[in-house]
Amino acid sequence: MHDILDPDTFALDQPASPVYQALVTRCRADLGRDGMFNLAGLLRPQAAAQAVAEIAPIMQAASFTHKRWHNIYFRKDIAGLAPDHPALQQCETVNHTVCADQMAGRIAMKVYEYQPLVRFLECVMEKDRLFLMDDPLARANVMSYRDGEALNWHFDRSEFTTTLLLQAPEAGGGFQYRSDLRTDDDPNYQGVARLLTGQDPDVRTLTAEAGTLNVFRGKNTAHRVTPVTGARERMIAVFSYYERPGVAFSNEERAVFTGGLHDFHVHGRAQADFPECRGCRQTAEKPYAARNARQGPAIPHIAHPPIAGAARLCRCPAL
Ligand SMILES: [Fe+2]
Repeated sequence: MHDILDPDTFALDQPASPVYQALVTRCRADLGRDGMFNLAGLLRPQAAAQAVAEIAPIMQAASFTHKRWHNIYFRKDIAGLAPDHPALQQCETVNHTVCADQMAGRIAMKVYEYQPLVRFLECVMEKDRLFLMDDPLARANVMSYRDGEALNWHFDRSEFTTTLLLQAPEAGGGFQYRSDLRTDDDPNYQGVARLLTGQDPDVRTLTAEAGTLNVFRGKNTAHRVTPVTGARERMIAVFSYYERPGVAFSNEERAVFTGGLHDFHVHGRAQADFPECRGCRQTAEKPYAARNARQGPAIPHIAHPPIAGAARLCRCPAL
């Protein structure tokens, strides 16, 4: 991994070294003060370029596009809040996602799975253990934002989010955040409304270089990515770690994550040797059976109704 991650500056595989210990101390201080820490230059420049080169063709040909209007909570309504309350103002998010199963063995996945990095994150955040997510699609993914596209204001559901910036855009694409806008006990709807109407003076912007790992506590800190400008897409890997093993999305969560597509469609799309319909009004049994026979372990067939929009990704000539 030394050709991918800079061992002199970060020494992730040498936890007893002074470099490592100093890094842990610095990151804990940053996390306490800012709710985040950054490892700028963790990914070597040539490794970042290679990671982008690996993923760009997949992004171009087989990513799926999230394009939706949502409020800051990603929920239809909030109990006790009128539908026209300014805290529920709608905003648009557009990005493109490549899932973990589409990039096995690529640099982005090697970094996600690198055990010394997981141990380092445990240490900084003082967790007993952190585990890779068990979800074949969602465990890690890469999102890209093209000219004019943005991830709009939201709160995260997880306690912290780990990202690795693979490519910065020419302009825009800044990470904006408003620390501690709410607490677990106080939703601060008036403060949320102030933020959404552009009246919050405490919004800060982080502009990161390619190769920067960022760990961010986003549960009560509102954040967004501002619109990207220019021809170079902003490309960022998102890593999911959990304090217990075996975490995977339910079918409903996966449907949201994949923009409404059933996992069969996504798996189908990701497997170049799936000849069958991927949009699929057909049963999934046939392609699953083919894959199971070849690769094992068995993937159970999951019955599903026709899904609106599935044809977007389907290359079956029947659709
Ligand atoms: Fe987020």
